[in-house]
Amino acid sequence: MILVLLGPPGAGKGTQAKRLQDMRALVQLSTGDMLRAAVAAGSELGQRAGDIMERGELVPDEIVIGLIAERMDADMDGTGFILDGFPRTIGQAEALDKLLGPRGKGVDRVVVIEVDDDALVARIAGRFTCAKCGEGYHDQFKKPKVEGVCDVCGGTNFTRRRDDTEEVVRSRLKAYHAQTEPLIGYYGAQDKVRAVDGMADIETVQKEIDQTLDGA
Ligand code: AP5
Repeated sequence: MILVLLGPPGAGKGTQAKRLQDMRALVQLSTGDMLRAAVAAGSELGQRAGDIMERGELVPDEIVIGLIAERMDADMDGTGFILDGFPRTIGQAEALDKLLGPRGKGVDRVVVIEVDDDALVARIAGRFTCAKCGEGYHDQFKKPKVEGVCDVCGGTNFTRRRDDTEEVVRSRLKAYHAQTEPLIGYYGAQDKVRAVDGMADIETVQKEIDQTLDGA
C-alpha cells in the first residue's frame, strides 16, 4: 500500500505515521526528517535547505523528489510506504506518479488530517522530541509517563525544532494553504481522498484512519 498523509503543520502526520508503521508494517518516509538529517549532517543539500526551512517555506521540488526517489527505490519491493509530508506540491505529486507508474504501483489512499489553524500553533509550540530515538511528545497532549524520561528508549535529552516558533508556523501554514491544499483536488479527482477529524485526540484519529484504510 502507498498511503499519503496530508495535513497542515502540526496536524499529527508524524504522530500517526509512526503508529501506522508499527501496526501495518509500512515504511514511513518523512521528507521533513530527511531534510533535517541533511541539515544536521552539514551536507551541501542541507545547507541549501536549512535557510528555507527556517523561513517556513517549501524546499525546491527537485531536492525533495531526489531524496524520496532514492529512499523509495531502496524499499520498493516491501509492503509499502506511508508518505509523511510528501508530496506537497502538484509538481511533486506528478513526479511521484512518474516514479511509481513504471513499477506498476500508484498512490492507493490519501488521508487528510483536518485541524483548525489556531489549534496548530498551540500544538507546535508545545512539541518536543527525544534526542536519542526521535519519539515525539507534547507539553500538554502527550507527556512522557515519567517526566524527563523517554517512554521508548529511556533517553533524558529532548530537542525542539528551530522552525517551531509562532512566526515560522504562520509562514508554514501559508505555504500549506497555497501550495499543498490543491493536492486534495488532484487526488480527489482520482477518488483517493478521505478526510479525518484531526481535532480529536490521538487515539481517536488513529481509529478513524484505520477505518479509512480498511475500506470504510
Ligand atoms: P515537516 O517536518 O514535514 O513539517 P510539517 O509538515 O510542518 O509537519 P510537522 O512535522 O510540523 O507536523 P505533523 O503534522 O507531523 O504533526 P506531529 O505529529 O509532529 O516539514 C518541515 C519543513 O521541511 C517544511 O516547512 C519545508 O520547509 C520542508 N519540507 C518537508 N517536506 C517537504 C516537501 N515535500 N517539499 C518541500 N519542502 C518540504 O504533531 C504535532 C504536535 O501535536 C506533537 O507534539 C503531537 O504530540 C501533537 N499531536 C498530534 N496529534 C494530536 C492530536 N490529535 N491531539 C493533540 N495533540 C496532537
